[in-house]
Amino acid sequence: MDANANHDAAIELRKVCYNLQNGHDLLQDLSLTVQRGETVVLLGRSGSGKTTSLKLINRLLDATSGDIFVDGRNIRDWNVIRLRRSIGYVIQEIGLFPHFTVKKNISVIPNVEGWTEERTQQRVQELLELVGLDAAIAKRYPHQLSGGQRQRVGVARALAADPPFLLMDEPFGALDPLTRADLQKEFRKLQQRLQKTVVFVTHDLRESLLLGDRIALLDSGKLVTMLPRSDFETSVHPLVVAYREAFDSGCGTGDRK
Ligand SMILES: Nc1ncnc2c1ncn2[C@@H]1O[C@H](COP(=O)(O)OP(=O)(O)O)[C@@H](O)[C@H]1O
Ligand SMILES: [Mg+2]
Repeated sequence: MDANANHDAAIELRKVCYNLQNGHDLLQDLSLTVQRGETVVLLGRSGSGKTTSLKLINRLLDATSGDIFVDGRNIRDWNVIRLRRSIGYVIQEIGLFPHFTVKKNISVIPNVEGWTEERTQQRVQELLELVGLDAAIAKRYPHQLSGGQRQRVGVARALAADPPFLLMDEPFGALDPLTRADLQKEFRKLQQRLQKTVVFVTHDLRESLLLGDRIALLDSGKLVTMLPRSDFETSVHPLVVAYREAFDSGCGTGDRK
């Protein structure tokens, strides 16, 4: 445990900056906390720094300055492998291995952890059921699945070793509106059941109001404000109002009529 950490928070970013070598600031002084079992949505337009923020949390990138705490401990003091295994990561564009079957894709972490075949097999079946897929799908390859099925496999893979933390980067972004709505509803049920600590990235205001306990609005690498979802709908902060208006006029997303 770190003496300066906020022990109530599951994840805490404290004055985090991430600068490119050319001096451009992708993130500036980003501070926010995620409580245990909470889903925090990072909402913002494309290029606002959402993916960069997630990559800093699991150390795919290292912050230029500032501190990040996971489970009360500075991530610089974590063994990076242990840190990543505690954090399920659903990447933008799914990122399934094309030459692996569904079963093998889901078992990547169980395999590195040296689970027995029996335990892995059981877990794969359990996870397929959890994300609403038929067990027979385990033998298929990603190209033999629909977009919605691939997304579900991506979520199952992130949950494989039952990590307490989940980072989800626009996980339903590439889907048609109906499939997307189905997956959003199921994710909400799943989250009520599993109570993971989740950081969920989206540019979709509707999605963030559906799934987030709190919503953090990012703009040009800065945190504009972070509010419980009910307050977000009524906030008079000019940038929140602008985001809501842009979204209502159809600029915020491609699939809202
Ligand atoms: N390594 C990099 N070099 C140059 N530009 C980058 C790099 N990584 C990200 N960017 C740029 O930084 C901005 C923020 O990126 P990102 O975190 O991916 O935003 P978001 O996920 O909100 O769309 C984007 O404009 C992106 O093009
Ligand atoms: Mg992104």
